[in-house]
Amino acid sequence: MISTDRPTLTALPLAETTADAVVVGVASGPEGPVLLSDALPEELAVALDASLELLGVRGRADEVHRLPGAAGSRWPLLVLTGLGSPDAEGRVGSEALRRAAGAAVRSLAGTASAALALPVSTEEELQAVAEGAAMGAYAFTALKSDRTHEKARASAPVGALEIVADGVPAERARQALHRAQVIADAVCTVRDLVNTAPSHLYPETFADTVAAAAEEASLQVRVWDEDALREDGFGGILAVGQGSSRPPRLVRIEHAPEDARAHIALVGKGITFDTGGISLKPPASMMTMKSDMAGAATVFAAVRAAARLELPVRVTGWLAMAENMPSHTAIRPSDVITMRGGTTVEVMNTDAEGRVVMADALVAATDETPDAVLDVATLTGAQLVALGVRHTGVMGDDALRDEVVASADRAGELAWAMPIPEQLRSSLDSRVADISNMGERHGGMMTAAAFLREFVDAGRPADEREQSPTPWAHLDIAGPSFNESSPYGYTPKDATGVMVRTLVALLQGRAG
Ligand code: BES
Ligand code: MN
Ligand code: ZN
Repeated sequence: MISTDRPTLTALPLAETTADAVVVGVASGPEGPVLLSDALPEELAVALDASLELLGVRGRADEVHRLPGAAGSRWPLLVLTGLGSPDAEGRVGSEALRRAAGAAVRSLAGTASAALALPVSTEEELQAVAEGAAMGAYAFTALKSDRTHEKARASAPVGALEIVADGVPAERARQALHRAQVIADAVCTVRDLVNTAPSHLYPETFADTVAAAAEEASLQVRVWDEDALREDGFGGILAVGQGSSRPPRLVRIEHAPEDARAHIALVGKGITFDTGGISLKPPASMMTMKSDMAGAATVFAAVRAAARLELPVRVTGWLAMAENMPSHTAIRPSDVITMRGGTTVEVMNTDAEGRVVMADALVAATDETPDAVLDVATLTGAQLVALGVRHTGVMGDDALRDEVVASADRAGELAWAMPIPEQLRSSLDSRVADISNMGERHGGMMTAAAFLREFVDAGRPADEREQSPTPWAHLDIAGPSFNESSPYGYTPKDATGVMVRTLVALLQGRAG
């Protein structure tokens, strides 16, 4: 389910590369396209720059052109990748580099090796190019049989990536590439898990895969099976899972370094397939629902990345896994369930299952009184209505919410702060239980957040929780986690791996 076949990254001067293709950047300047590469031989650079307009090159983002390697040069293929508009100083920024590297490498599938000679002068820019290239070198082929293997091989992602960054000292370049490798691998791990078919990835196999990989990364692991979930009162996870022949799981993973400066808890939604349950989804809405475990995959990958980067922050990850199926054992609309911590929930719509499993996990996560808790979930269709398919919705306590958005900016991801309007809470009132799992439909992303908020610290004694409430933020990735349109930049079709980089950036920020 998780591939171990990732591209290699090395830093090399252009003179030493033997790659099949060399990638250079073109920016879209106020007076037309400008070649941005200090690495190309002068003569070639001048000739190329002069013919850009005639070649129809504009230098826009996601624009990739392939040219034959110039006469006498050692590379059979020269690739121009668009960097978009530069700022007043002629710089394009890390995310433009990341994206241009990704688009170029993606277009080079079928080529064994590529050297990227983009305008890089800092470690951060070097890391961005390496991340973009490694994220662009992705394909999901685990479930292709040998019959299509030949074809798949012909369009395999680039396996060897060389990054040209002559301005960055060797040791610093090595460290930047290591960080890029860890982060890109985390993103691609999420993609692998999300792309895996629900016939293969269900709570038991998901938990086993995560547990094995986490142990290998020296994380502490605990898995709750159905009996253990019952023992510990996880009524929400059990209820959502009870309609499936594949029982639910809860997984806790922990990175606990000795020099920890903070303790951050991460909670992820792990619905391995969401049919809607008895409140069945129409077929078209079900098509992408293998991706309903993207939040849990993201949490797993972020905790493992924190360990690999040896961040001095204690991180606990909680992965709430269940399959939401309609059957004679499934929960019904009107059922009342008792959650971990004792809150009763009236299930008005079995398709609002994500908030129910997340509630249990939020209670368990905050029972340990971390310094902050963040949750990641493909929670609502309303997220797509509000923010579209690329921006993650971020809600919760103001300071932590804004820290998430700032972390996303640093990581080059798109996240947008949203409110949790006070009046939405009463729309969740139930006549028979403490709370209903469905409320106001308009602004449904925020209604779902209002539901989750009720479960932060819900297992702690009231006086304690009032004195030291756990700061909480909620990330709704329903749209951004799965790309149903064409690939762009370093983002492929299908699973994207969105928000891993943001979580890692936040943990790095907390590490100081
Ligand atoms: N997994 C879905 C949300 C979703 C929708 C994710 C589209 C990705 C793309 C979630 O479990 C769900 O079904 N939510 C309902 C809630 C409603 C019944 C209150 C929704 O958004 O329609
Ligand atoms: Mn649902
Ligand atoms: Zn769901």
